[in-house]
Amino acid sequence: MIKKLTIGLVTALAVTAGPVLAAGKAGEVIDYEFAHEGPFGAYDQNQLQRGLQVYTEVCAACHGLRYVPLRTLGDEGGPNLPEDQVRAYAANFEVFDPELDDFRPATPTDHFPKSGLSNAPDLSLMAKARAGFSGPYGLGLNQLFKGMGGAEYIASLLTGYTGDEKEEAGTTLYKNTAFPGGYISMAQPLYDDSVEYADGTPATVEQMSKDVSAFLMWTAEPKMMARKQAGFVGVLFLTVLSVLLYLTNKRLWAPVKGKRVA
Ligand code: HEC
Repeated sequence: MIKKLTIGLVTALAVTAGPVLAAGKAGEVIDYEFAHEGPFGAYDQNQLQRGLQVYTEVCAACHGLRYVPLRTLGDEGGPNLPEDQVRAYAANFEVFDPELDDFRPATPTDHFPKSGLSNAPDLSLMAKARAGFSGPYGLGLNQLFKGMGGAEYIASLLTGYTGDEKEEAGTTLYKNTAFPGGYISMAQPLYDDSVEYADGTPATVEQMSKDVSAFLMWTAEPKMMARKQAGFVGVLFLTVLSVLLYLTNKRLWAPVKGKRVA
């Protein structure tokens, strides 16, 4: 009986999940390690600075970060650039100033520009918009154990090119093992030594991919550390409160239960 039920249940699950899986075959996402993972994880400041470099020198040609204020590059817990560097960095971008009715160099109070290429999505919140791990069968167990995996997804996307391409309706599509559907219209952006790191870190495709993904995780969630800290303090507080309530309860009921109160 139980065996029959189990078989029935599994078939039902398979039947419901079948079309979903067939429609958008999820790509393969590698579970890369990041410093910001786990309840006590914190962004690696050097990695964020390297990621900023990769974004600036490679991705910024097409992708914008329009929700990210340039001044946050100086934030502690973020890339933590000194103030003069933030100002110098901002001045690389031009923004349109309606008051001047002209373009002027950006200042730290401006945001990063929006995407230069109209079909390249803005990357400000991309690391939170994509989930690397889901399932099995929509249960979300993988997310529970491995996290959302936005940064892992982006890193897997950048390392996931096989070199194959195909032409479809006049557009070239590139085979990618992480992209759902298997073909993406973004050509492989990173090759070994696409950038030269000032700190001497070897600029392999995997290294650059992880660095820029960590940076994009930070743009999407700049206050992650503050959130984790607040959560930890909350749990600690509730634990202490529970102990106190338990002891109070015991003491209150002691006379009724015939025990002597010391
Ligand atoms: C030559 C222009 C160009 C460059 C350079 C470029 N991209 Fe893209 N990117 C695109 C386009 C176009 C798309 C949309 C692809 C699609 O949906 O098929 C895209 C899509 C993406 C996506 C979204 C994929 C998804 O799941 O929808 C991510 C993430 C991304 N790019 C990251 C990067 C990063 C990181 C870099 C720098 C290392 C970079 N791109 C460099 C053009 C570019």
